[in-house]
Amino acid sequence: MKAAWIADAAGGDLSIRVGDTDPPAHADERLLVNVDAVGLTFGEPHWVTNGTMALPDGSKRPLPVIVGHEFAGRVAHVGSATSGFSVGDRVVGLIDFWRNGAAAEQASVLPGEIARLPDAVSAVEASTLPIGALTAWQGLFDFARLKAGETVLIHGGAGAVGTFAVQIAKGIGARVVATARGDEGLALCRELGADVAIDTTQGRFEDSAGAVDVIFDTVGRDLLERSWQFAKPGTRLVTISGEAEDAPSPERAQQLGIEAFWFIVKPDPAQLAEIVRWVADGRIAVQVDRTYRLGEARKAFLDADSRAKRGKTVLTV
Ligand SMILES: NC(=O)c1ccc[n+]([C@@H]2O[C@H](COP(=O)([O-])OP(=O)(O)OC[C@H]3O[C@@H](n4cnc5c(N)ncnc54)[C@H](OP(=O)(O)O)[C@@H]3O)[C@@H](O)[C@H]2O)c1
Repeated sequence: MKAAWIADAAGGDLSIRVGDTDPPAHADERLLVNVDAVGLTFGEPHWVTNGTMALPDGSKRPLPVIVGHEFAGRVAHVGSATSGFSVGDRVVGLIDFWRNGAAAEQASVLPGEIARLPDAVSAVEASTLPIGALTAWQGLFDFARLKAGETVLIHGGAGAVGTFAVQIAKGIGARVVATARGDEGLALCRELGADVAIDTTQGRFEDSAGAVDVIFDTVGRDLLERSWQFAKPGTRLVTISGEAEDAPSPERAQQLGIEAFWFIVKPDPAQLAEIVRWVADGRIAVQVDRTYRLGEARKAFLDADSRAKRGKTVLTV
């Protein structure tokens, strides 16, 4: 089957290859899915070295590894030890990062990684949810415990995760302050419901953000460092940055009297099913920035560095 994989850890985006490989084998506890669409996260080649793709015992995942761990497709085979799904079911899911992803004609998944997909949500839209929206959901609710009436500052509000974070936070009745780069990003944050949108190329977010209860950072580096300095006692600061040096220091958080979290999104079929409902109901409008064919996976990664992204990039299979 055709697939796209990370060939070596040293090359960053240049290490992406597309070619033919063996389809996944049948296993009693797994299902095989014919993949229709795959969401891309451009930091993925770096996850090989930053620990995101570590094996359950902590050791490094051997390469190659097929990229694209969030997907939508149709069940093609059900293992004899699985239940709840039938051949032909439309599904959406997140494959654990230490296994092969879904940028391929077929993917091997566990029942605990997928949720059913109603006809109202297209495969392209759905393929953006299991990392894009689930990361926002888990960061805002499981870690930051965001509540209605609170204010959240979202860094990178026009990005793949950020566009979901803005809409989900607004959806529960929080006040949203979002940062972005450039007019287009700013306009998108406003369109998605941000109460305040700040262009970080035009000014410092610190000057116009006001008091916030939660900071949800998808950018890292300088913006994250300045968010530490901006946080007041009691602030809950969550970063999802893929840079190892952005991992929060518990000692620093304690000194400042804040809570600081970094986490890796986990498969959660119940949360995913709820997100799918929000999309089907129109409470979340999926932002697909660009689609590429599976055979163009390497180009999709290489293009990413040279353009501003507004939402998610998807590979269609
Ligand atoms: N921990 C996890 O579970 C998890 C899950 C998903 C993603 N991630 C990581 O989270 C990060 C974001 O992922 P993503 O898929 O959302 O990436 P993305 O689509 O590239 O979004 C990042 C957004 O941040 C914007 N941005 C960059 N610098 C900025 C600045 N100084 N001020 C305001 N906005 C700025 C970018 O704008 P431009 O396009 O104009 O640069 C882009 O819109 C990556 O490092 C990824 O690896 C982690």
